[in-house]
Amino acid sequence: MASRAKNFLKKLEPSLLPFVGAGRVDGPMPELEKRRFLFVTGKGGVGKTTVSAAIATALAARGKRVLIAMAHTKERLSAVLGTKPIGEELVQCSPGIWAVNIDPQVALYEYGLLVIKVKALTNAVFRNEYISAFLRAVPGMYEWAMLGKAWFHTTEVAHDGRPRFDVVIFDAPATGHGLDMLRVPKVILDVAPPGVLRRDAERAVGLFRDPTRSGILVVTLPEEMPVTETIELVNAVETELSMPVLRIIINGIFPPLFSDGERATLGARRELLTLDAAESASAGVDAAVVAAARRAVRENVQRESIRRLIATRPESMAMLPFLFDDASTRAGTDLLAEVLGAPVIAGR
Ligand SMILES: Nc1ncnc2c1ncn2[C@@H]1O[C@H](COP(=O)(O)OP(=O)(O)OP(=O)(O)O)[C@@H](O)[C@H]1O
Ligand SMILES: [Mg+2]
Repeated sequence: MASRAKNFLKKLEPSLLPFVGAGRVDGPMPELEKRRFLFVTGKGGVGKTTVSAAIATALAARGKRVLIAMAHTKERLSAVLGTKPIGEELVQCSPGIWAVNIDPQVALYEYGLLVIKVKALTNAVFRNEYISAFLRAVPGMYEWAMLGKAWFHTTEVAHDGRPRFDVVIFDAPATGHGLDMLRVPKVILDVAPPGVLRRDAERAVGLFRDPTRSGILVVTLPEEMPVTETIELVNAVETELSMPVLRIIINGIFPPLFSDGERATLGARRELLTLDAAESASAGVDAAVVAAARRAVRENVQRESIRRLIATRPESMAMLPFLFDDASTRAGTDLLAEVLGAPVIAGR
C-alpha cells in the first residue's frame, strides 16, 4: 500500500483502539466486491461522489467491472476520476470503470423503447408533449426512471456471458431525496397494475432488499450534526424500508496529531480558543499554540463523532482521510481507494 494511506491508518488507529477494544473493524472491500448494487447516500456535500469514485477505483483494482450511475446531477465525477465530462451517454472512464449521468427524460424514453420495442411508436408516445407532462406529474416516475435504469444495468449481460457490470454504484441524491428514491419501487408495487413496470419494480425491490446482493452506503463527516442525522437515517432505512445498510463511511477524517493527554491539556486552555486568540498571539502567545488548541478541539469533536458511530454500528464502519491538497483529483481518489483497500481499518 502506498505510504500516504499507510501513514493515515497508522495515525488514526491508535486513537480508535479504546472504542473497538480487542475487536477488529475490517476494511470494506471484501464485502463491497460481493455486491451487485451499491446505493451511496448521505447529506449534501459530505463526499458521496468522491466516495463513489474511490470505491469504483478500489473495485476496478480488484478486477471488477464497475458502473457509477449518477442521478441527473451537476456532474463532478469526471474531475474526481480525472476523465472527460460525463453525460447521459454511458462512457468508459478508465480500465474497469464506466459512468453515466442519468437524465430521467432520456431514461424514460429508453425504457419505453424496451417495453414497446418499436421506435416509431415509442417516439409517438414518449416524445408526446402531453404524455411527457403526464409522466412528470406521476409521483415517483422520474425517480424510478433513474433508479430503474441503474437497476437495469445490473441485469445486462456481456458477450462473454458475464454480467456487463459486476457492480453498479448509484451515486444517489442527498439524504431526503435519496430515501424518497428508495421508496419509489415499493410505491409502484402498491399502485401499478400487473405488467412490465410492476415486474421490474418487483425485481428491483428484491435486489435492493437482498443483503447478499446489495447494500446502502451512508457517507458522513466526523461532526456532531451529520453524525446525528446519519444515525437517524440508518434507522429509517432499516426499519421503514427493510433495506440493508452495509457501511457507514466517515469521510474527511483529520489524521490525529495529538495524544489524549495533549488534547486535554490544549482543550483546557480556554484563552487559546477565544475568537481573538489569534490576534493576542502577536501580543505574546505563540500563534502555533493557538492553532494547535483549535486543532485539538476539532480532534475532540471528531473522536466523539466516531465513537458515537462505532457505538451504533461497530461492524459497519469505514473511514477515509481528509485530503488536504488533492481533493477532487485523480491522485486524491487513488489515495482514498488505497485506504478502502487496506485489509483492516482499526484494531491492528
Ligand atoms: N476526503 C475529502 N477530503 C477533502 N475534501 C473532500 C473529501 N471528500 C470530499 N471533499 C470535497 O468536498 C466537496 C463535496 O464532495 P462531493 O462532491 O464528493 O460531495 P457530494 O456528497 O457528492 O455532494 P453533493 O451532495 O453536492 O452531490 C468537494 O469539494 C470535494 O472535493
Ligand atoms: Mg455528488
